[in-house]
Amino acid sequence: MSRVLACSTAELPEGEALRLETSPVIALFNVGGEFYAINDRCSHGNASMSEGYLEDDATVECPLHAASFCLKTGKAMCLPATDPIATYPVFVEGDDVYVDIP
Ligand code: FES
Repeated sequence: MSRVLACSTAELPEGEALRLETSPVIALFNVGGEFYAINDRCSHGNASMSEGYLEDDATVECPLHAASFCLKTGKAMCLPATDPIATYPVFVEGDDVYVDIP
């Protein structure tokens, strides 16, 4: 497990997403001031979840086939996806946002 500095809080405003070129590639979201990190690759196909559509209830819709995922648990909320997406712990220290990567 390694903790990486993802961005500053100012770099990721509410309702926005950021793609982190880490290994694995991570999609980081700010929903109402809460930060969530998931694997950037959709569990259904080759789509970047950081390009998805963020909802206020902390779900994100895949830009390719519109499956949606819970950002808190990674659970697939509707078809065509059935498998979850990995989630990663996020920590905010001061103005910095960190993600723990396995
Ligand atoms: Fe995401 Fe198909 S690639 S729902």
